[in-house]
Amino acid sequence: MAGSTLEIKNLHVSIEGKEILKGVNLTIKGGEFHAVMGPNGTGKSTLASAIMGHPKYEITDGSVHLDGEDVLEMEVDERARAGLFLGMQYPSEISGVTTSDFLRSSINARREEGDEISLMKFIKEMDSVLDFLEIDKNMAQRYLNEGFSGGEKKRNEILQLMLLKPEIAILDEIDSGLDIDALKVVSKGINKLRDDNFGCLIITHYQRLLNYITPDHVHVMMQGRVVKSGGPELAQRLEAEGYDWIKEELGIEDETVGQNA
Ligand SMILES: Nc1ncnc2c1ncn2[C@@H]1O[C@H](COP(=O)(O)OP(=O)(O)OP(=O)(O)O)[C@@H](O)[C@H]1O
Ligand SMILES: [Mg+2]
Repeated sequence: MAGSTLEIKNLHVSIEGKEILKGVNLTIKGGEFHAVMGPNGTGKSTLASAIMGHPKYEITDGSVHLDGEDVLEMEVDERARAGLFLGMQYPSEISGVTTSDFLRSSINARREEGDEISLMKFIKEMDSVLDFLEIDKNMAQRYLNEGFSGGEKKRNEILQLMLLKPEIAILDEIDSGLDIDALKVVSKGINKLRDDNFGCLIITHYQRLLNYITPDHVHVMMQGRVVKSGGPELAQRLEAEGYDWIKEELGIEDETVGQNA
């Protein structure tokens, strides 16, 4: 079988008793690039965090399966080992752990005991990806994300992505805070991974990322649901016209940001 399939069905998620996701359906297969767009506060990051098992997010209904395996039953580290990857909107800083050590243990966590990557091989692989992403080699020796600029953190997420080679990646606003050159480099990295064994869900606000990474499918999330899906032309229309036409088409009432209830 070529690639993995992540199947999200009728997913309902609450935070502190408040329902944020109200029945999300999405299927991502190996070889496919999906973009998710949508106004602020509609649950895009919640979707990403809930799939990865963030403890704050309570799944109240629905299912998530990776190749038929129940993801919601897996421990958080098992999800990563099963081949899921999350590039976070706000990557965390980990003081005391160098980027290089973090990457090596993440790679080894996905390998069988006794089959760990050798230090030499790891350094060779890391150096080649650092070169490819035009990241200064000294960065790998700094504590993970500590003091990194916004754009450096995002490049670092792509470094992780390229070294870990997951089956399915969810990239939450990987383009936010990137300068124009960095946007190209990050896109080049994601495009390099494109093959039948890699599926990707890209959460973004802007068409400009999708000029570099052509999505096969574009989805619009509003009020905790995927309300519309289409091809790349959907993202172009959103960029030109915003979201009002979808609200009108679907009869969705306007809501104030932060009042998602
Ligand atoms: N820990 C929390 N406590 C209370 N509410 C929360 C918490 N986390 C998220 N929310 C709320 O859930 C809703 C969805 O948030 P989420 O971060 O998923 O939105 P988003 O679609 O990613 O928005 P953006 O485009 O701004 O990144 C928002 O109304 C937010 O305020
Ligand atoms: Mg978000």
